[in-house]
Amino acid sequence: MTSSSSSHITLTKFCETQYKGSDTYDGLEAVINAIASGAYELESQIRNGNLLGMLGSTGDINIQGEIVQQLDSISSDTFVRKFQDSMHVAMVGCEEIEHPVLFENSDQSDQHDYIVLMDPLDGSSNIDVAVSIGSIFGIWKRQNSKTLSPESLLRPGAEQIGAVYVVYGSCTVLVVATQDKVNEFTMNPANGEFHLTSADISYPNKTPYYSVNDGNTARWINGIVQAVDELRDGRSQRYIGSLVADFHRNLIKGGVFLYTADTKNTDGRLRLMYEANPLGYVSVQAGGAVSDGMNNILEIQPVELHQRVPLIIGDKGLVNQVIKTIKSS
Ligand code: AHG
Ligand code: MN
Ligand code: MN
Repeated sequence: MTSSSSSHITLTKFCETQYKGSDTYDGLEAVINAIASGAYELESQIRNGNLLGMLGSTGDINIQGEIVQQLDSISSDTFVRKFQDSMHVAMVGCEEIEHPVLFENSDQSDQHDYIVLMDPLDGSSNIDVAVSIGSIFGIWKRQNSKTLSPESLLRPGAEQIGAVYVVYGSCTVLVVATQDKVNEFTMNPANGEFHLTSADISYPNKTPYYSVNDGNTARWINGIVQAVDELRDGRSQRYIGSLVADFHRNLIKGGVFLYTADTKNTDGRLRLMYEANPLGYVSVQAGGAVSDGMNNILEIQPVELHQRVPLIIGDKGLVNQVIKTIKSS
């Protein structure tokens, strides 16, 4: 799976050979390069944030009712700008922006052929404490026959054509998934170039980890309490509080992440369109699964950009085990 000899393959080269000019993916190289370029800019701001006075909140509350950190706002602005400059994105839906951003002239140009849904900075509570955070992107082909409107992005996650996430951790990695293919690239911080470091990623056979906020235990239904008891048996609990970093660890090392509904978070806590759908897509391409406890999340017909969803994601066997316990309780 891991191939250090492949590290001479850069993300730029990879995108050029895999996507440019292809029937299905042409233009995707511009979208992914925009993400990589934004991630490079952000990486340095994250590393130097404390020194530059860029940590802490903006004083605003976002559409989720959550405090906006300066880096939430900077990352949102950075990626919106990168997508606009890429000339291949027609519309962006973003956690930090109430309504979808429709780029000017995108309706008049066939070249603006992608829609992106993003959580530009995942793990906001970890920004100020030097813990891994990330960015999450779901990528969709625009339906050319239809005029774009804010509703154009309300499509099931199964229609994504690809998904990308970045983890700003002990190193900065960018993972790209398209149909049946998941590849990890690691950034060289000296020049922002990403190099292929893990090719054809799939979940390992072992499942040493489960990830859950057990401070919610008293608010869970019995089925969840029982499912977590079963996961606890022989596994280590790992919970960073940055979904994307928890997901990445469980993908590489084996495990499952849960943030189910409870009496406080009655629809779950995480967001369908820019957290569950993109990471769910990656999980499925790597041989794993994603569920809300009853159904495959990728089949859900969304009703609004910022809706929440209960999330069980990771190793397929463990996701199915949790579903079975919930259903039989
Ligand atoms: P965001 O920073 O984009 O708002 O997302 C935070 C999410 C997710 O990253 C994490 O898994 C979850 O919030 C943690 O929630 P708790 O603090 O309730 O465990
Ligand atoms: Mn998030
Ligand atoms: Mn966020």
